[in-house]
Amino acid sequence: MCGIVGYIGTKKASPILINGLLKLEYRGYDSSGISTMENGYISNMKDKGRVKNLYDLPGINDLNGTIGIAHTRWATHGKPCKENSHPHMDNSNTFSVVHNGIIENYVELKQFLLDNGYHFLSETDTEIIPNLIHYYYTKNSENTDRLLNSVYLACKDLKGSYAIEVLCKEEPDYMIVARKDSPLVIGVGEQENYVCSDIPAVLSYTKNFYLLNDGDFAKLSKDDVSFYDNNLSPITKELKNIDWDVSSCEKDGYEDFMLKEIYEQPKSVRETIGSRLKKDEKINFDDIGFSKEVLQKFNRIYLVACGTAMHAGLAVKPLLEKLCHITTIVDIASEFRYREPLIDENTLCIYISQSGETADTIAALKLAKSKGATTIAVSNVIGSSITREADYTIYTHAGPEIAVASTKAYTSQITLLTLLALYFAEVLESVPVDKINNIKEELLLLPEKLTEVLKDSDRIKDFAHKVYTEKDVFFLGRGTDYTVAMEASLKLKEISYIHSEAYASGELKHGPIALIENGITVIGILTDPFLVEKSVSNLQEVITRGAKTLIITNQELNTSSYDEVINIPNTNPLISPILSIIPLQLFSYYISKEKGLDVDKPRNLAKSVTVE
Ligand code: F6R
Repeated sequence: MCGIVGYIGTKKASPILINGLLKLEYRGYDSSGISTMENGYISNMKDKGRVKNLYDLPGINDLNGTIGIAHTRWATHGKPCKENSHPHMDNSNTFSVVHNGIIENYVELKQFLLDNGYHFLSETDTEIIPNLIHYYYTKNSENTDRLLNSVYLACKDLKGSYAIEVLCKEEPDYMIVARKDSPLVIGVGEQENYVCSDIPAVLSYTKNFYLLNDGDFAKLSKDDVSFYDNNLSPITKELKNIDWDVSSCEKDGYEDFMLKEIYEQPKSVRETIGSRLKKDEKINFDDIGFSKEVLQKFNRIYLVACGTAMHAGLAVKPLLEKLCHITTIVDIASEFRYREPLIDENTLCIYISQSGETADTIAALKLAKSKGATTIAVSNVIGSSITREADYTIYTHAGPEIAVASTKAYTSQITLLTLLALYFAEVLESVPVDKINNIKEELLLLPEKLTEVLKDSDRIKDFAHKVYTEKDVFFLGRGTDYTVAMEASLKLKEISYIHSEAYASGELKHGPIALIENGITVIGILTDPFLVEKSVSNLQEVITRGAKTLIITNQELNTSSYDEVINIPNTNPLISPILSIIPLQLFSYYISKEKGLDVDKPRNLAKSVTVE
């Protein structure tokens, strides 16, 4: 949601912080701000809007401090405006704090502080934190580690989620950071240390990171980092090397990250397949290593996630059921966690999250674990929070996804879960080997076929040009094509702000067909030979009522009645979503461009949803 950057070292902090914020802006972009400390004084500068507004603030170039914190905001409490932007300072201007997350008991804490003579300048929950720290700091004057202790005591009062960075003008050589249910990592350099909510922010400065766990505190100086657990007992941490290359976080000549990420899919799917699948060999999931007995124990599989990741789950449900013969339920994490789902030690729960930081998905995983289920996390971010909670983690290895609208993560999630389903089927011996081998062969051909689909982008661009002024668009499909329709509709809503609906084609006549009128755009996905005739009939029903149609298909059809037909390569229908979504990702992208919108940073959205 929000992004955090921090620096302590020998260099001027402000350019490093602003550069980091620019890399993190995809996490939230309502407002941004920066505090640096110099000569016993904290300078605090912030503004509404994009990070580039910070550049224009008078005096920003005069910030020479070598220690600082910075933040890019996605508003939760209080509208986006300068007053509500971070960093927030306490009443005495001694402490400056940036915060990601939500303080659930802030009303009660605010009242406590008001009763103790504090006042507030913003509508945020965050502003209580520097004041609470001040409250403890003034009571804590005897303590040898006064700042760390005061931050610790303040955090003990907080309910909810937080990742915070704290500066104190009385202790100019240190910065304190803490996390609970919101990501925070520390990057290590030569005589300098970095803090960030997301690794790409500082990847151009270091590749060595410490990952903080929930409840951890850290005290940073330029030469040292000390770690403490949730009782403030010292702990040690292992330094991890993150081998993402910096260019994978840059646009690489593409106009937008989203377009770059769409075009990266032949490579990202190949990376996902990696060494798990090799010609004529069994699928390799040694990192999970389930025996036949263990798999036979599972009488139900849950696939739980949010948004696009949940759509990836919907796409693989038929695979798990058809190949493994285990009932598979796909659930939205925010629903699952409050539904009292039927889970026990015979349930396998798989949690899908690109970022690995989605609050609802993590909470849903914790719930399943508490009921004795076996849990697997499917994530793209090494060491992300979800991977530290799950019994097993498998990575998509799609590379960093920066655009808010998820594209390559979706196809990699489906690819990885397909491999997992095939692995289960091989261990269970639940279907004939031929059936498994056909899907394996098709998976290995995907990178090539993805490259072929991407070649048709001009025709999609032309169609987007014809329909970008529309107010409503319908997506129709049956079976796995319906799951693609849902993902395509989400993509269009997110980045073009056009209202759209996805329907199972057969459901149309049970109500929604009432909305079809002359000129409306309907997009049909037809890739399953067993369902194609039925889908064609449903499309005729909308054409008769005047709809403009775009068809994505790998079938031989009489195409004369459609306005535009995009042919994609044939594959096994169970994995066709990996190919059929591509033209629809491009369709949303080009519509958004036609409308002149910010594709990578759509309004009201953020890349990683770390609040409920
Ligand atoms: C849509 C999109 C979101 C995410 C959802 C889950 O393009 O990106 O719907 O898929 O917020 O995010 P992760 O996968 O990080 O848990």
